[in-house]
Amino acid sequence: MKPIILYYSRTGHTEKLAQLIASDMHGEIIRITPEKEYRGSSRRILSRVMRDRMRKKHRRSVTPVPDLREFDPVFVGFPVWMKDMPDFVADFLSRCDFRGKTVIPFVTFWISGARGPLKTLERVCGGAKIEKPFEDGTFRGMDYRKWRHAVRMMIWNM
Ligand SMILES: Cc1cc2nc3c(=O)[nH]c(=O)nc-3n(C[C@H](O)[C@H](O)[C@H](O)COP(=O)(O)O)c2cc1C
Repeated sequence: MKPIILYYSRTGHTEKLAQLIASDMHGEIIRITPEKEYRGSSRRILSRVMRDRMRKKHRRSVTPVPDLREFDPVFVGFPVWMKDMPDFVADFLSRCDFRGKTVIPFVTFWISGARGPLKTLERVCGGAKIEKPFEDGTFRGMDYRKWRHAVRMMIWNM
């Protein structure tokens, strides 16, 4: 089966990684688009996201849900926002059918790491096996080539 890459990126960090993975794994690529794009300074976006979280306002994605039947594994990439995944990414993922799929996350951030978002990922990707997360922080990260090798070995054995 063919790999697919589902990702969101605002400033390009996750997008670069998504494009690299798509080219290395020969996969299709789909950007997860929020109902309203996040424009302006990081500070402005941070206050918008904080306000939404406080009011428990869950933003949605406008990306049509793809038919995943012919795809496996499914790479899922996003930036960490306030120690979690962006709400509209969770909304989009929760509407995909991941039953029987292997989901390989790639998560970008400054420093906080991917632990919180990976918990959310498990919750929203019901029926998927989460494997080999790649974490890429501005101040700490994993070795991409080593990870790519491990993922390729895993795909060959699938
Ligand atoms: C609203 C907002 C919240 C963020 N929250 C965190 C955070 O909790 N921890 C962290 O390490 N980085 C945080 N960041 C930094 C981003 O995760 C980081 O810059 C990421 O790589 C951006 O990816 P992108 O270029 O694909 O959009 C935040 C950035 C924004 C805009």
